[in-house]
Amino acid sequence: MDLQINGKTAIMAGGSAGMGRATAERLAEAGAKLFITARREERLRNAAKEISEAYGVSVTPVVADSSKEEGRQSLFEACPNPDILVITINPPSPNGDFLKLTPEDWRSSMETALIGPIEIMRHYIPVMKNKEWSRIVNIATFSAKNPMLWRLMSGPARSALINYTASVSREVARHGLNINNILPGMFQTEGARELLPVYADAFNLKPDPEIVRSHFMENNRIPAGFMANAADMAPMAALLCSPLARFIVGQNIVIDGGQHLSIL
Ligand SMILES: NC(=O)c1ccc[n+]([C@@H]2O[C@H](COP(=O)([O-])OP(=O)(O)OC[C@H]3O[C@@H](n4cnc5c(N)ncnc54)[C@H](OP(=O)(O)O)[C@@H]3O)[C@@H](O)[C@H]2O)c1
Repeated sequence: MDLQINGKTAIMAGGSAGMGRATAERLAEAGAKLFITARREERLRNAAKEISEAYGVSVTPVVADSSKEEGRQSLFEACPNPDILVITINPPSPNGDFLKLTPEDWRSSMETALIGPIEIMRHYIPVMKNKEWSRIVNIATFSAKNPMLWRLMSGPARSALINYTASVSREVARHGLNINNILPGMFQTEGARELLPVYADAFNLKPDPEIVRSHFMENNRIPAGFMANAADMAPMAALLCSPLARFIVGQNIVIDGGQHLSIL
């Protein structure tokens, strides 16, 4: 399928690893000119080089922390006029005892998982809504809809994010700017591997990948029967970035192998 984004300018904020990188690859494959951001410089520069070489498109790395005003400014200066904006951001690590969460923990969660994406969207919406069409996609989490006691630093902030985009997407859709969210379940990504010791600690397990994976599969029913890779969600993200998705507005697409049971 031709996504019809050849030559368009796309930002993948959080594009050096995991689902962000997988999405950047699908956009590059379809011919988009990319700007990818991340906090860690070396991995970001390597990703930009590899994607550019693999797909023959321009990929500009921008070292920027989306949760900080200074980082967001670096992105805005590097790419002032995108057609496509995809945002992902890692919230604070899984929590232990919920009674020990402090106001500072909550501020940190909101700064990253809520205010960061909102501020990036708020900056670009006035520019993007002047185009024939444009697209924004947030890669958030299925715990926005499926509360988890050990993911309080991620889910509540993302529930607020999808509340925000539910309203804003309806306001800007008539300008051809469609905003949608992808809510991933459990994926085997670089980020997930980095959280393995934290998860193991929270459930008193040995930090062995196989032990953690078995514990997860036993305690979380995933009807598909496996944990996915980043490449399993990227085609949907790329589709939402294309003009083919012109009638998809303000949706929250859960990609979780069927784990979240809901008819809403
Ligand atoms: N993997 C899962 O099982 C899972 C489950 C549910 C939800 N999610 C959500 O899905 C999203 C992607 O997760 P993932 O597993 O693909 O993560 P990942 O493998 O760690 O990749 C995240 C990417 O975003 C960048 N990034 C993170 N925070 C950033 C920030 N503040 N500013 C700029 N760039 C940032 C990372 O680079 P740097 O670290 O260098 O900045 C990296 O390039 C996250 O929002 C996560 O909460 C993941």
